[in-house]
Amino acid sequence: MRIGIPAETTTGEKRVATVPDVVEKLIKLGFQVSVESGAGNGANFSDDTYRAAGADIIKGTGKLWGESDIVFKVTVPTSAEVALMREGTTLIGFIWPAQNPELMQQLAAKKSTVLAIDCLPRMLSRAQKMDALTSQAGVAGYRAVIEAANVFGRFFNGQITAAGKVPPAKVFIAGAGVAGLAAIGAAAGLGAIVRANDTRAEVADQVRSLGGEFVKVDYEEEGGGGGGYAKVMSEGFQQAQREMYAKQAREVDIIITTALIPGKPAPRLITAEMVQSMKPGSVIVDMAAERGGNCELTEPGQAVVKHGVTIVGYTDLNSRLSKQSSTLYATNLFRLTEELCKTKDGVINVNMEDDAIRGLTVIKDGAITWPAPPPKLPAAATKPASAKPVTPAPAHGEPSPPMSGTKLAVFFGIGAALFWLIGAFAPAAFLGHFTVFVLACFVGYMVVWNVTPALHTPLMSVTNAISSIIAIGALVQIAPPLSLLGSVMDRPDGWIRWLAMLGIALTSINMFGGFAVTQRMLAMFRK
Ligand code: NAI
Repeated sequence: MRIGIPAETTTGEKRVATVPDVVEKLIKLGFQVSVESGAGNGANFSDDTYRAAGADIIKGTGKLWGESDIVFKVTVPTSAEVALMREGTTLIGFIWPAQNPELMQQLAAKKSTVLAIDCLPRMLSRAQKMDALTSQAGVAGYRAVIEAANVFGRFFNGQITAAGKVPPAKVFIAGAGVAGLAAIGAAAGLGAIVRANDTRAEVADQVRSLGGEFVKVDYEEEGGGGGGYAKVMSEGFQQAQREMYAKQAREVDIIITTALIPGKPAPRLITAEMVQSMKPGSVIVDMAAERGGNCELTEPGQAVVKHGVTIVGYTDLNSRLSKQSSTLYATNLFRLTEELCKTKDGVINVNMEDDAIRGLTVIKDGAITWPAPPPKLPAAATKPASAKPVTPAPAHGEPSPPMSGTKLAVFFGIGAALFWLIGAFAPAAFLGHFTVFVLACFVGYMVVWNVTPALHTPLMSVTNAISSIIAIGALVQIAPPLSLLGSVMDRPDGWIRWLAMLGIALTSINMFGGFAVTQRMLAMFRK
């Protein structure tokens, strides 16, 4: 089958749906690839690079749409583009079916099959690799920090120089979803003091693990609305949140707002008075500008100065980092294509039995299949695993409900009886080893449980390294007897010593590798 990549027609859109590296991979999957001449220009991919990767360069949008069996797009297609489509074509890209009912009818009339990347069931961990909403929001969050740095008149990091002392910039991030977490990482990486708030308390650990401080609203209310998304909060909470935001506005230099509740207008978090209270030269980047803005004074698509504060309301943050956005988007679509073409023969199979594919498919052979029924999930999977860069373990300090007194007594009673039985019948040497084993399990459990969840992975690698203590056993086997004077009979057999040598070689890899990995992981947590 032939995959076609048209140039994006939306004004100012610089992204492209595939990149030369991915073209090569698509060809290896058995597809032919056509790219409209100039489609990659905005993202710095020339026709020649696509040609070198094996794509055919097509001049003329009509020809490209007409010849393609499958079309990859970034933005929602226009009616003019749908008109160019051949009957029965498969279209993959952003569609937003709820907002575009007329487009859905037009596409259905073309007997097309449409996979809307925005409808991916994000709560399926298998869908992570195809999650374009996440990849694009991550890039946009990073770019929001760069836009803020561009208009902010100072360094982000604090410095002490001969010319004077520079305090670090203070950045406040409202909403710690995908874009917010990317912004926290980028601002902390530049050396700023970063604070963040979200209505979902469960993101606090993720904020901290990226170098930010989580600022709580002084009001108890659970902010999760299911599926890892937020809900509209009570009036009492909103009042307390406004007070906290007003305090932050007075203190910080930069505010980046990313708050979003799916299907609702953007929550208004920054009022005109808060803007007025900010220091002159401060910056607000309102990522929710397109949905009405989190700040009252935002003008979508513009950077304006009000009360001495620059308010950036750009809605094209991804296009402003078009090469990166296109590369990640192209990889998401490639992973989807792999799922659609498991036979690797250049033919796709839209399998409606597959939960991820079913969720994405909004039109199948001209029949509208949107909205998809909710995917069957394992009981624990209730939020989009893909949406968050760091997945925390249950929050530290929130133990599961304690056992009742009777249950605990029975539990200990059985344990003591078992121990007595073992003690009565097992050999004395075994009992000693067994006691050490039980104590080691207990101490290990207590140690791991008290480590911050974000540090569990480095802990695992260092534990792995420490486990290489077994090398001592191998060393004892390989060593000559205490005195070389001992009889030859005291020495272990030749093959035991060879095995011991092999054991030492393997445990060395484990030991040095474990410490090296731990160092690299810990470096990620250091500024
Ligand atoms: P997300 O759903 O992953 O994150 C939104 C976060 O806001 C959630 O963690 C939610 O709990 C939080 N939130 C909701 N209401 C809140 C409130 N009242 N107070 C504090 N936090 C609240 O969404 P994602 O993917 O991170 O996108 C963030 C925003 O960025 C969206 O508005 C999206 O449309 C926008 N966006 C803008 C782009 C641009 O070019 N300007 C590009 C990409 C995304």
